[in-house]
Amino acid sequence: MTAPIPLGMVGGGEGAFIGAVHRIAARMDGQFRLVAGALSSDADRAAASAQALGLDRSYDDFRQMARAEAGRPDGIRAVSIVTPNHLHAPAAVAFLDAGIHVICDKPLAATPDQARQIADAAARSTARFFLTHNYCALPMVREARAIVAEGGIGDLRLVQAEYLQGWLSGDVRSKQADWRTDPAQAGAGAIGDIGTHAWQLAAFVTGQTPVAVSAELSSMVPGRRVDDDVRASLRYASGARGGLWASQVATGRENGLSLRVFGTAGALDWRLDDAERLLHTPTGQPPRILTRAQDRSGSFRTPPGHPEGYLEGFANLYADIAAVIRGDNGPLSRLPGLADGLSGMGFIAAAQESSARDGAWVEVRP
Ligand SMILES: NC(=O)c1ccc[n+]([C@@H]2O[C@H](COP(=O)([O-])OP(=O)(O)OC[C@H]3O[C@@H](n4cnc5c(N)ncnc54)[C@H](O)[C@@H]3O)[C@@H](O)[C@H]2O)c1
Repeated sequence: MTAPIPLGMVGGGEGAFIGAVHRIAARMDGQFRLVAGALSSDADRAAASAQALGLDRSYDDFRQMARAEAGRPDGIRAVSIVTPNHLHAPAAVAFLDAGIHVICDKPLAATPDQARQIADAAARSTARFFLTHNYCALPMVREARAIVAEGGIGDLRLVQAEYLQGWLSGDVRSKQADWRTDPAQAGAGAIGDIGTHAWQLAAFVTGQTPVAVSAELSSMVPGRRVDDDVRASLRYASGARGGLWASQVATGRENGLSLRVFGTAGALDWRLDDAERLLHTPTGQPPRILTRAQDRSGSFRTPPGHPEGYLEGFANLYADIAAVIRGDNGPLSRLPGLADGLSGMGFIAAAQESSARDGAWVEVRP
């Protein structure tokens, strides 16, 4: 048994959402051991959170943590960044500059300038940068990608990606809502928070990224300072066309991510709320319902019929990241990273510009 990779975490203290998901995912396959953290902006809360989790080392500040861990023989080799978006860049730069691999949550950053800072740091670092667009690590999404790649739908014609949530339909106040509706901390609204997931998912499955968008971003809740609904039309260089709708004011919807793709020889239909099934309809034939029994990527831990989902998808990313850190570059082609993050930032910028110009077509620049 190989020793677990020592892991650190920035963010994810008491009351936080995604940090706990990363911790479960990181330990699911025994490949990582969380040993250090700068878990909160508040030093006392950081220390209390670290103690509750049994961490060996707690830091008040992530820059101090990066320096100290890089100087220890038993220091962390990777760090998970699970803070609000505006802190992704300063934290990622600190750890990349210290030679520590970064596992950062999406979106890449709050601003294009911050995204560039991460790209520059990654370019000069010996360490790698991973971005946790977790949905692309689900087994049936990986199978969908394989079907497209082997010609199972022919040439791509139409793409429809949706990510519908309703939890921000009102003037919600909570730890998670407060920073997401603050432009300084979030950067963008729904387009950054969930639109980038839909964008990355569509690109992952189809192997194509739109070259131009025409979009309308809206803020439906009075007083809200970020977008909470985005509708975008997409043009692909291949001639394919698409649509992306991401909303956090779709009343009653919980976490409704879905993707439909149509080609010259067939179609695929996948939904997160039925994540273990993929509908493949070859032209002129009845639909085929594929389950994990047909997944060829082996991205699961239990036999088909024993439901797996969100946490396991995250763990699939961590398993691949561990393999890469240990020197096996095989999983790199399916692991989301800097290019996905820059592409998502390009989508946000192009859609914002398009919306400001009343839906004009705007080229997407990564
Ligand atoms: N991949 C996904 O499915 C997914 C889901 C949810 C959130 N996210 C992303 O994860 C990130 C966090 O989202 P969340 O919902 O968990 O937010 P959250 O508000 O629940 O947690 C943020 C954490 O960061 C901490 N923090 C703030 N400033 C800090 C600092 N200076 N140093 C250390 N810690 C600090 C907070 O104390 C808190 O513990 C966001 O970038 C979000 O977009 C991704």
